[in-house]
Parts: sequence; C-alpha cells; structure tokens
Amino acid sequence: MPSLTWPSKHLLAPQAAALIKDSIIHPDGRGYPGTVPESRLILGDNLAVMAALLPEYEGRLNLIYADPPFFTNRKFSARIGRGEDSRRPNEWILTEGYPDAWPNLDAYLDFLYQRLALMYRLLAPNGTLYLHLDWHANSYARILLDEIFGQQNLLNEIIWTYHGPSPIRSAFNRKHDTILAYFKGSNYTFNADAVREPYNPSTLMTFKASPKAGFGKIPNLERGKVPEDWWYFPVVARLHNERTGYPTQKPESMLQRIILASSNPGDFVADFFCGSGTTPVVAARLGRKFIASDITLHAVHTTRRRLVASQAEVFSLERDASFPFPFSDSAKIKIAVEKDLVRIDTPLPLDYWELDPAWDGKIFKSAAQAQRPVRSGEISGEMKMRVPARVQVKTGRRICVRLVTVAGEMFQLVLNV
Ligand SMILES: C[S@@+](CC[C@H](N)C(=O)[O-])C[C@H]1O[C@@H](n2cnc3c(N)ncnc32)[C@H](O)[C@@H]1O
Repeated sequence: MPSLTWPSKHLLAPQAAALIKDSIIHPDGRGYPGTVPESRLILGDNLAVMAALLPEYEGRLNLIYADPPFFTNRKFSARIGRGEDSRRPNEWILTEGYPDAWPNLDAYLDFLYQRLALMYRLLAPNGTLYLHLDWHANSYARILLDEIFGQQNLLNEIIWTYHGPSPIRSAFNRKHDTILAYFKGSNYTFNADAVREPYNPSTLMTFKASPKAGFGKIPNLERGKVPEDWWYFPVVARLHNERTGYPTQKPESMLQRIILASSNPGDFVADFFCGSGTTPVVAARLGRKFIASDITLHAVHTTRRRLVASQAEVFSLERDASFPFPFSDSAKIKIAVEKDLVRIDTPLPLDYWELDPAWDGKIFKSAAQAQRPVRSGEISGEMKMRVPARVQVKTGRRICVRLVTVAGEMFQLVLNV
C-alpha cells in the first residue's frame, strides 16, 4: 500500500496537559448546584488536551468531527460587531480569530498527523471520525487516514458544496470542501433512517408517470432517501440566525446530519477544533454528551455563550494550566446586590456576564447568565439569583461575578453578602 512520508514525520508520546476545572456552567440555572457535568469545554492545544483525556476516554468517543485549519496560509479574524453589512468588510469590527499559517506543508502534516493519531485512539470501537478539509490538504490527509484507520475503513468522501462570492478569475470558483469519514470498526454506528430526506420532486413525478422508471426497482418514496455523498448546505454567512462572527463557522444543519447519522443519544461527540462551537451546540440539542476544545479564548467564549443561549445541559469549562484566564482590573465595574437581585453598572461594552451566588473560591458555579443579543437590543444589567436553601443559611457567603466584554476582555469581582 502506498504511504505518505516526509522528513520530519514521527509520532511522539505527547505531553499531557494539566487540566484545571475552572467553572461548571448551568445554562439558565439548569441543574444548579447539584448536577455533575458530563460534557466538557476545554481551552488548550488539543494535542496536550487529547493526551490528557486518554486515561479516561481512550476507546470511548463515539464520534469525532474535526475541522482544523485547512493549510490556507491565511489569518482569520472574528467579527464582533452586529448586523454588519457583509459587502462592506472595511466597516467590520474585528478581533482575534485564528491563524492558519505554516512554514511549509511538512509542518502542517506534522501538526495533523499527531492529532489524527490521538483521535483514532480516543474513538470507540463503533466510532467514526469526520475530517473536514478542502483542496489545500485533503489529498494528503486521505493517505494519512488510510494509514491510521486502514484503507478499507473509509466510510465516505463527502463533498460539501455551497455558493458565495469569489475573486477568482483564473480558475473555476472553488466552492466545495471535502469531509473524509472513517470508521474504526466494522460495527460502526450509521443511522440511515435518522438522516433520510425527501426525494426530489422530479423523481416523484417520474415514478408517478411510469412505474417502469428505476428499472424495476421502486423505492419507498414516502420514507425518503439516504442522502448522497455530496451535500448542499448554505454557508453560515447566509444564515443570519446562526452567524456568530467567528471565522469559518460551519452550518448547524450539516453537523446535525453528521451527528444523527453517526451517533446515538447519550453518546460522546467530540470536536477538538470547536471554533464557535457548532458541534457541541448541535450535539447537546440532540441529547449527546460533548467534549469540545479550542486553543483560543475567543473560540471557547463564543462556544460557551452559544451553549448557554441554546439552553444546553450543564457542562464544565476547563483549561490547560498553561492557558490562564486573564482577568483585568475591574475598577470600572460597580455591583449592587439587593436581596436576590444583582445589578451591574459599567460603561464597558459587555458581551456576557454570569454569576456564582455561593463562590467557594475554587470552581466557579455559573448559576445565571446574561448575554448581548446577537443582532440588536442591550444586554441585561441585572440578574436574579436563585440561591438554594442550603446555601442561603450560610453566613459570610460570597458572590462572584464574571464578565466578558465584546472585545473579549475578562473581569472577575467577588462580593461578601
Ligand atoms: C476551521 S475552525 C473551526 C470552526 C468550527 N467548526 C465552527 O463551526 O465554528 C478551526 C479552529 O481550530 C482551532 N485550532 C487551531 N489549532 C488548534 C490546536 N492546536 N488546538 C485546538 N484548537 C486549535 C482554531 O482556533 C479554530 O477555532
């Protein structure tokens, strides 16, 4: 079998991250304070994060969707304004997105190979990996995945097509990505009935007109068909209700198809390049547990606020010890507490704030959250605390409030009540 080699190709035992459980997030107070989270959102380099997860999760993740940088040699910024005109990029308000810049292809393949090998180890025997790339590197990745999974374990090469403006005049417009799906074992999960879609109206018409169409095979037209391996979903730039401003965000409908097909309720769905959090948000909505990570604070924050907005079940927010949460000086923020109401007063443009009504000084238990509405309207400056009776009787209770501005600056304030 042919294989791909390059001078620096190697698989080292990666250094495991020291994971710190920073917060337990109870979206809208769900399950506060007693529910123990099974889903995890982790800040850190996924090589070290996956290595740290191995002792607990090796052979246990049912589905991994991986949408890494594509080897585009570009730098992607995130948009943090609201309702901005897509056609006027010079008016956008931007912040840190993520870099996709590499000294050469070898360095990119080193990056990918190590991580794909760890994903393979984390997958359950019935698990599937979906690796999302485009023309820049997908052919190299295909050979690497053949090596790691076995050539015969290619489930599909899926083509995702879309529309959008393009400046290209010297070639055909590049408007598709490639998703390589590999299963680990032959008893892999594939729920064909969960992803059926209606037949094309012209197919229905053809069968109505002539029962001979289909060369003697009459499909169950009511049940619908299993989708082909080429998919059309509009890009998120066209989906106003989904758009977070995070670069290269993927459509929820596409993740929904992948998750429904290749996992069952209660399964673990992972995304170690989670970006804006599309995979964990859809996984949570479909009753799956998730493990998601990203290397940037902006991605992890965007994922957290999206999970909260979609009223996901309780999840933990963790970080590699070498990725601190940089809290700034909070002199510009005033907080007042009146019975069960917390009010904040600040000139800072807030994106998100949350509160722990009984701060133990260790793990932040986020019992209530407020966030800036995506398109228009203001973030609420007050929040109700639901303090459980057993916490209320404690004397000398402390309240902790955490805030994130639109530009991603973080603050933490502690009050004695
Ligand atoms: C293509 S984007 C993912 C977009 C995501 N699928 C979504 O729908 O928003 C790739 C992501 O990989 C992250 N990333 C790059 N290198 C990483 C690493 N070593 N560990 C963890 N995340 C990384 C980037 O920060 C970026 O958010």
